[in-house]
Amino acid sequence: MCGIIAFTGNQAAAPILLDGLRRLEYRGYDSAGICVFNRKKLYNWKSSGKLSALESLLPDSILGSTGIGHTRWATHGAPTNENAHPHVDTTGRIAVVHNGIIENVDSLRLSLLPAKTALLSETDTEILAHAIAHTATKQGGPLIDAVRTVLRQVIGTFGIAVIDRDNPGTLIVARSGSPVILGIGDGEMFAASDVSALSRYTRELVHLDDGEVAELTPQGFTVTTLDASPREKKSTHLQGQLEEHDKAGYAHFLLKEINEQPETVKRAISGRLDEAFSTAHLGGLNLQARDLLDVKRIVILGCGSALYAGMAGAHMIETLARIPATAEAAAEFRYRNPVIEASTLYIAVSQSGETFDTLAAIREIKRKGGFVLGLVNSVGSTIAREVDGGVYMHAGPEVSVASTKAYTSMLTLFALIALLLGRTRDLSVQQGSGLVTSLHNLPVQIDYVLQQHKKIASIAKKIAHSQSAFFIGRTDGYPVALEGAQKLKEISYIHAEAYPASELKHGPLALVTEKTPCVVILQDSDLLAKNISTLEEINARSAPIIAVTDSDEPRIKKLAAHVIDIPKGDALLQPIVMGVALQLLAYHCALHLKRDVDQPRNLAKSVTVE
Ligand code: F6R
Repeated sequence: MCGIIAFTGNQAAAPILLDGLRRLEYRGYDSAGICVFNRKKLYNWKSSGKLSALESLLPDSILGSTGIGHTRWATHGAPTNENAHPHVDTTGRIAVVHNGIIENVDSLRLSLLPAKTALLSETDTEILAHAIAHTATKQGGPLIDAVRTVLRQVIGTFGIAVIDRDNPGTLIVARSGSPVILGIGDGEMFAASDVSALSRYTRELVHLDDGEVAELTPQGFTVTTLDASPREKKSTHLQGQLEEHDKAGYAHFLLKEINEQPETVKRAISGRLDEAFSTAHLGGLNLQARDLLDVKRIVILGCGSALYAGMAGAHMIETLARIPATAEAAAEFRYRNPVIEASTLYIAVSQSGETFDTLAAIREIKRKGGFVLGLVNSVGSTIAREVDGGVYMHAGPEVSVASTKAYTSMLTLFALIALLLGRTRDLSVQQGSGLVTSLHNLPVQIDYVLQQHKKIASIAKKIAHSQSAFFIGRTDGYPVALEGAQKLKEISYIHAEAYPASELKHGPLALVTEKTPCVVILQDSDLLAKNISTLEEINARSAPIIAVTDSDEPRIKKLAAHVIDIPKGDALLQPIVMGVALQLLAYHCALHLKRDVDQPRNLAKSVTVE
């Protein structure tokens, strides 16, 4: 979703802003802009479309060492030049970039703007530029006071960065519901909505919390609340290798991330398997064995692919630990006034750690006294900081908008949690030990699927021109089907629906024809006979079947047009391996249709608004 980068120091701001915007591109955007202060004036450039469109407007050299930049993902108003950020007030004094949504635009306009203020865009953000400029002029005093006065009246969410023609070298940033991180440099300061825009310049970071406003100058920063109370903030040092957004020779980030999965799965389990007791060791949960024994129910929350990972995770937990477990759309959770129980363990799942709806669900649970764990990829993200305990995925930055490696890591972590909970209950040493071995073997299983990329590409070629496709799975195959359909929709724009196999004849069969490929997940389980009947039903309607299976049953080959072979393995982990085949299928369909694989239309990487 929208991205912010801001800089103040003693070197040219524009190259830093543009580099930051490039690093934010992966979040998805449809317009971009930068504004730089130089010699008593703000210079603002913005354009709809990709960064290259903005760059084509820029002069060869841009002087000025304080500036702000933004990638916009349209919410209020179309992705036009006018609606792109930064927004500058009518007097040319204040420039603002904003992530989030302001809900009381009309009342702010009435209360904070002179009656005749002409608005040039359809955005909610423009109001902020005018309101801050007008209030700063009216109130006098430091710019930060005017920013606080305006923000106290805003209803909605914001991460903002502001520069002022009349306060050279000063940057004001603020946060409420949309992330803002400060970066401390040597005689310079940075701010961004995402660590990836900062990590090349500094590793000393300060995460703003909701309701905080910071004033940045090249010499340092101060943080206060919206009510001007001072806040002591500690910086954190960004650990690990500097992760460059680099395709490493692959055509797309998506393909690179699909191929990284043997390695990322290894990282997810690394140091977390306890061979001696055939269990998992997850120190970050902040729960003792006794606490785990007291858990009576598990509710998993997430959005999109994280929700589907949660559904697969609930199945794993019920299978191994026999604790009732369900997964629920985080976005719906707080609106249904959920009953929160002390004996229920809540688990929030998020790659970015910034998804607004997941965060809102966590806050609802905590407000009612519940205990929430987080499965998060992005280190130091808001969700990682707000949960009561959790486990990091360690998948590394996921740049492509469609989730792949983070999704498989989510499932892998659920397998570890299921093992841990199972071993505190009735799962035997032998069963636990079998799963530990299978987990170690998981990267090899995934690699086996990756080796079939040519075959999968040829299947994709045959279905890529279909209008619609079905993904069918039974029990733990159903979340696999949901995620497979999600991947195909997202990146190829082919309409895809997932159904539990048993539901097929309760409606969707009416749409199954020779023109609707059906991808069927067939686990080698005692339900195989039922799944073969499903194949028969589909085959009778002449729909081409793509079977994804670890079974050798000859009837599958007879009924299916194509078979993607999955190596035999632990039934609990097969959904992870099968999911990889579906990622490749979606990728090759998208490639064949010449889609923008890494940045599909209308989608953002990190959905930080409701
Ligand atoms: C799908 C996808 C989205 C995300 C969802 C949640 O490929 O990427 O459906 O899974 O927006 O995002 P996180 O995991 O960051 O909370």
